[in-house]
Amino acid sequence: MRKLIAAMKTSVDAKVAGPGGVADWVEAWSEDYGLMQQIDACLLGGGMYPGYERRWTAIQDEPDKPLPTGKLPMPAQVEWARFAAKTRHYVLSSTLTSALWPQTSILRGIDEVAALKQQPGKDIYLMGGARVTAGLIDAGLVDELRLIVYPLIAGEGIALFETTERRRGLELRKVHQLQDGRVSLIYGIG
Ligand SMILES: NC(=O)c1ccc[n+]([C@@H]2O[C@H](COP(=O)([O-])OP(=O)(O)OC[C@H]3O[C@@H](n4cnc5c(N)ncnc54)[C@H](OP(=O)(O)O)[C@@H]3O)[C@@H](O)[C@H]2O)c1
Repeated sequence: MRKLIAAMKTSVDAKVAGPGGVADWVEAWSEDYGLMQQIDACLLGGGMYPGYERRWTAIQDEPDKPLPTGKLPMPAQVEWARFAAKTRHYVLSSTLTSALWPQTSILRGIDEVAALKQQPGKDIYLMGGARVTAGLIDAGLVDELRLIVYPLIAGEGIALFETTERRRGLELRKVHQLQDGRVSLIYGIG
């Protein structure tokens, strides 16, 4: 069965975004988890999908135009924008009715995620946000959790495990120190 791999960037206190819904401690959003070779689908929550679609459509359409931060997209961001344009995306939502991207479909519930894992294909990258990741871990559907932990206690913000209901042991598979005090952690979820 293809694996569902959750990967997110958190503060030390496991916030995935500040109070305004943005993780302003992340300098540039790109796929920094080493997943691109092993995945052929992305899954994300209805909460984050509209912003995600806007952000990456802008880079797909105008890779040479400065971002709202005033900086030009980095090569890794342009690479992800191109990869995302040709990769199937699935949005878990009970309310969204359509997506702009033709390669995007909407899943209505956890059973549809379980069915997606049964289909033939490469692994699936679970991009977030917090509630979808916590809910799918609780449902026993996430096989691996990859975190990049930033050297920061964020305080107020969106907590990755705010809605988690079940205790669950993890198997530490890999730890890697990155630049600027960040740490990459890979956990297996049994
Ligand atoms: N730091 C990082 O790496 C990272 C990565 C991604 C996102 N984020 C941040 O995460 C935040 C978004 O997280 P979030 O928790 O607000 O939203 P989310 O997890 O993206 O989406 C939550 C929504 O997913 C749908 N959903 C959840 N469980 C479902 C189920 N079982 N069946 C059907 N639909 C289901 C519901 O949408 P409906 O109401 O439509 O049913 C729910 O409102 C943003 O601030 C974003 O910036 C951070």
